[in-house]
Amino acid sequence: MTKFQIPKGTFDILPYGAEEPWQLSSLWSYAEDVIRCTALEYGYREIRTPIYEQTELFNRGAGESSDIVMKEMFTFEDKGGRSMSLRPEGTSAVMRAFVENNLSQLRPVHKLFYIAPMFRYDRPQAGRYRQHHQFGVEAIGVSNPAQDAEVIDLLCETYRRLGLKDLTVELNSVGDVPSRIAFKEALQNYLRPHFQELSPDSQTRFEKNPLRILDSKDPKDREILKNAPSILESLSESAKAHFDELRLLLDECSIAYHINDRIVRGLDYYNKTVFEVTAKIAGAQNALGGGGRYDGLIGSFDGPDLPGVGFGTGIERILQTMVSQNIPLPQEMRPLAYIIPFGDEAKAPCFKLATACRHQKIPAEIDLQSKKIQNGLQNAIKLSAKICVIIGSEELKKGVAQIKYLESRHQEEIPLDGLISFLKEQL
Ligand code: HAM
Repeated sequence: MTKFQIPKGTFDILPYGAEEPWQLSSLWSYAEDVIRCTALEYGYREIRTPIYEQTELFNRGAGESSDIVMKEMFTFEDKGGRSMSLRPEGTSAVMRAFVENNLSQLRPVHKLFYIAPMFRYDRPQAGRYRQHHQFGVEAIGVSNPAQDAEVIDLLCETYRRLGLKDLTVELNSVGDVPSRIAFKEALQNYLRPHFQELSPDSQTRFEKNPLRILDSKDPKDREILKNAPSILESLSESAKAHFDELRLLLDECSIAYHINDRIVRGLDYYNKTVFEVTAKIAGAQNALGGGGRYDGLIGSFDGPDLPGVGFGTGIERILQTMVSQNIPLPQEMRPLAYIIPFGDEAKAPCFKLATACRHQKIPAEIDLQSKKIQNGLQNAIKLSAKICVIIGSEELKKGVAQIKYLESRHQEEIPLDGLISFLKEQL
């Protein structure tokens, strides 16, 4: 018979037995709790959209010349002959939902967040998967640079609350339309003499989207780009004012950043602010998160002409960085009481006790399998239970339970009718 295997570039998140500590479900739920709580405190509200959408949505949103759309989409035809794609990123999907549900009618400002799986048919490697999970936010309706600063601060604060250290915020502006027209010309003029030496991808992008060449990972391209002009020199007056004000706000809030005029991001919808946060960890993909402003995107989806700014950060990369930076990981939930019935007649009273514990919010486990007390005790140790409650026919006759503290090995008898109150005190 065929032994099935997990699809390449994906992984299981397990309660125990995970190959890597970042694949433990206790860590995922802890990080998701911290993320959710931080986003809610900053005024963001959760949005959930389907994991697949019409392919055209991503072509128009992320952009036909982006790697994500050109090379990495999981695209399929549904039974009705429509082209659908698994969501490679969240922003386009959220904008579709925003427009379709007429949310703009309800409030002037919308602050939305999501924690959701994304799908990119990429070459799997450390920190790069075909299914990854993103915490993303989208703030819609405010063009003031303070909104960009808030989004960057939320990203940094989330990382801080999770204990991450040694992070760098890299900041750039890709300007508005006039800035990009001016820069496109300056960049093409610079690259034209090197055209034949550029990688095939960059040659394709030369006419259509030369800015994307700045993002090339090809070593030859990178060498050529070393002396390329800076986009910051082509910023229009209003784009420059936006960038300067954002920097001032970040400075005032002591949010450290580096200007990196080579950051253009891999998606086509950005304008003005773009940023990435990187972590110093050896041998892994180091972009923890990134985002920027996308004024005009909602309009391009036939929605109202509202500005927007947001980010996405990979949860896998966050957890891997936590592990590599030796940040104390949350403990797995452990039972307070591990109840061992000794002999058949104790089984029903013990089950009743376990049920009563659970109804009183006392984490309790019952051993329904072991034939010997010793085996039961070993199971309790495996689960890191605090106390073993042992009840046999003798105990039932006397109306007591044997209590064994697993750490100190101290043992005592507790009357059955006071057992729940006793256990509650141990919580
Ligand atoms: P992105 O930079 O393409 O932006 O992805 C955001 C983050 O997702 C990356 O920084 C990285 O941590 C994680 N990530 C991306 N691809 C993978 C992968 N194959 N494996 C593991 N992690 C990955 C966006 O997707 C934008 N929608 C962000 C945004 C929201 N901009 C504005 N609003």
